[in-house]
Amino acid sequence: MRIEFDPAAIGRTPFYKLLTSVVVPRPIAWVSTTSAEGVDNLAPHSFFTVSCVEPPVVQFSSVGRKDSLRNAEATGSFVVNLAPEHLFEQINATGTDFPPGVSEFDAVGIAREPSLRVKPPRVAASPVALECELHSTTRLGDSTVVFGRVVHAAVSESVLADGHPEITRLRPLSRLGKDEWGALGDILEISRIRYADWPGGPVPDRRDPKG
Ligand SMILES: Cc1cc2nc3c(=O)[nH]c(=O)nc-3n(C[C@H](O)[C@H](O)[C@H](O)COP(=O)(O)O)c2cc1C
Repeated sequence: MRIEFDPAAIGRTPFYKLLTSVVVPRPIAWVSTTSAEGVDNLAPHSFFTVSCVEPPVVQFSSVGRKDSLRNAEATGSFVVNLAPEHLFEQINATGTDFPPGVSEFDAVGIAREPSLRVKPPRVAASPVALECELHSTTRLGDSTVVFGRVVHAAVSESVLADGHPEITRLRPLSRLGKDEWGALGDILEISRIRYADWPGGPVPDRRDPKG
């Protein structure tokens, strides 16, 4: 039996809590921007994904009009820093609603490093920085989706194996529901099956002991 939930009936906040508890795990874009006044901003955004391959585009959503959105619009650029497990408390602290004149880099004590192609700095201790030029924004109800064209990727040598990012070295955090966050769990590996090689018959459920 299922319990049915109607967003119109249960209202914005309860449905938001339901949605963010079931759309999980969400990767975290740790977004650095610089305001028109020159203040460096840093904030986590878990409404984040890849939106296009060619050109390479990523997106994050600002629920309401936050500093990250305002700065990206004002200056035309932002950086997505990967959120690694060892920076858990620092990442959470940059989600505090500091006023626009306060830099989270300074308030939280996070070292910057210059970006190669855009003005906002990278987080020095984050293993990956995707430098983005603002592509476009799309307003959706109370939120704004921010699309950024990735013009440069900087990856720490320490997370590469044979020149490719290695998941057990990246150790990304993810956002779950409530105040829960996820760390890297078991890694499963499987190849995609081409139709030409399809063996036929149903694919068993892993919970089925005979499967
Ligand atoms: C892990 C995490 C993920 C978050 N994801 C989002 C998000 O996707 N969109 C959003 O608007 N706020 C999100 N927030 C809240 C913002 O980070 C928070 O409102 C922050 O103060 C915004 O900073 P800014 O005003 O400097 O942009 C998240 C917070 C945390 C801790």
